[in-house]
Amino acid sequence: MKDLTVKIRRFDPEKDSEPHFETYTVRTNDGARVLHVLHAIHDTLDPTLSYRYSCASGQCGSCAVRVNGEPVLACMEEARNNSTIEPLNLPVKKDLVTDLLPRLEMIAPLVPKGEPVIPTKAEIDAIKPLKTCIECLCCVSACPAVDVTNFVGPTAMRQEMRLVLDPRDSGNRVSDAVRNGLFTCTTCQACWKVCPKEIETPAKAIEKLRSYANKRGFTLPRHLEVAALIKETGRSVPRTAESFLEKMSGVLEPYGPVKATVGFFVGCLYNYRQQQSALDAMEVLRRNGIRVIIPREQVCCGSPLIRTGQLDYVETLKTRNIETFRSRGIDTVLTMCAGCGTTLKNDYTTPFRVIDINELLTQYGIEPPARLPIKATYHDPCHLMRGQGVHDQPRDLIRQVVDLVEMPSVCCGSGGGVRSGNPEEAAAIGRKRGEEIKKTGADIVITSCPFCEFHIMGHTDKPVKNIATVLLEGYREKDRKKA
Ligand code: FES
Repeated sequence: MKDLTVKIRRFDPEKDSEPHFETYTVRTNDGARVLHVLHAIHDTLDPTLSYRYSCASGQCGSCAVRVNGEPVLACMEEARNNSTIEPLNLPVKKDLVTDLLPRLEMIAPLVPKGEPVIPTKAEIDAIKPLKTCIECLCCVSACPAVDVTNFVGPTAMRQEMRLVLDPRDSGNRVSDAVRNGLFTCTTCQACWKVCPKEIETPAKAIEKLRSYANKRGFTLPRHLEVAALIKETGRSVPRTAESFLEKMSGVLEPYGPVKATVGFFVGCLYNYRQQQSALDAMEVLRRNGIRVIIPREQVCCGSPLIRTGQLDYVETLKTRNIETFRSRGIDTVLTMCAGCGTTLKNDYTTPFRVIDINELLTQYGIEPPARLPIKATYHDPCHLMRGQGVHDQPRDLIRQVVDLVEMPSVCCGSGGGVRSGNPEEAAAIGRKRGEEIKKTGADIVITSCPFCEFHIMGHTDKPVKNIATVLLEGYREKDRKKA
């Protein structure tokens, strides 16, 4: 047995004008779940505490709450000392009890066909990854789009795709999905990562529905323009000036002994729009013993097409890119764009290893930079943290050069084709990100993705810098002091 202290957000609409927090200490068994702690508080300290549960075994979904900001099932989550327990990010009825009904009513029912249909085994197998939902609404609570748009939310989209695959259903699922905000999902993957049943909604529902929508002529005009540009030029952004590849292709030798050799996959944004960040990264790599091969023939990774459901040209891009690096005998391909990295790692089958720059630099270790007298916050790119599981490495690098102050890891609004297809929604999510940045009191924002870098710049008055740029500034300061 041990004492455990938790902070709980309380709100009784009949008594309170606004929510407040109360702190409780209870005795619990080792390994107690959050639900056990709520029971103990209710039974021994405060019988007015309201929370919901039923099965107590992770099957009914009714006990979902947020613990330290993360949506979880209270009956499955281990209770930890000094945790903060809050209701899901939904309208609150009382304390930890939220109003689930409006969101549950958005989950479409099956509309049977006139005649009986028996699904085949193959059809049932196709539906399986989408049918284990327990309607806990953790995914809705974590979704950055539901607050700022008419998006019905991840689980309602999951259900639309599940019904597309069900031969017994007669509904207009694809057009319903488009009307209910299919193109407002940023594919940030927050829904998937908090889902207690690990349903991969972004790839298995959203992107699949978008590909059906593409065949039905529902793709957004701006996304069609991007696809046309890729087919015409091999790049998803228009040429503005001399590209990174035109300037830098070839082999960059490190300044000291060679620790590793990598091929660099530059990506469209670093090739044109955020070129300085990529140039800074090359300096950091050279300074840290990394030989960089930069093949000029590489093209867009295809992420803008895959995320928006336009798949017909993707194989051409994949073949070209794989052949470009394979033919040079490159066994490790380096990415510094979160979107390219997650695409190469998760949507390609490559004969080489793909590694993000933060992984590479922490793996081989870096020369210590000088410390800069500034406080920085770090924005986790969704396709780096959730798409590639890279969370600690950027923080390890940042802490070597500046003081780091954390903020919640939430999407900035630029991914999934939302910035190009639905700029108002992207801006609304971006503004919320700007507010979080302001709360940290940081002098600068650091990130590690050109999409995030470019988008966040429009929603904060703080300088937004690539992690490579900040490291390089640390090295320049070190050189200046030495000189
Ligand atoms: Fe049923 Fe937690 S009480 S899932």
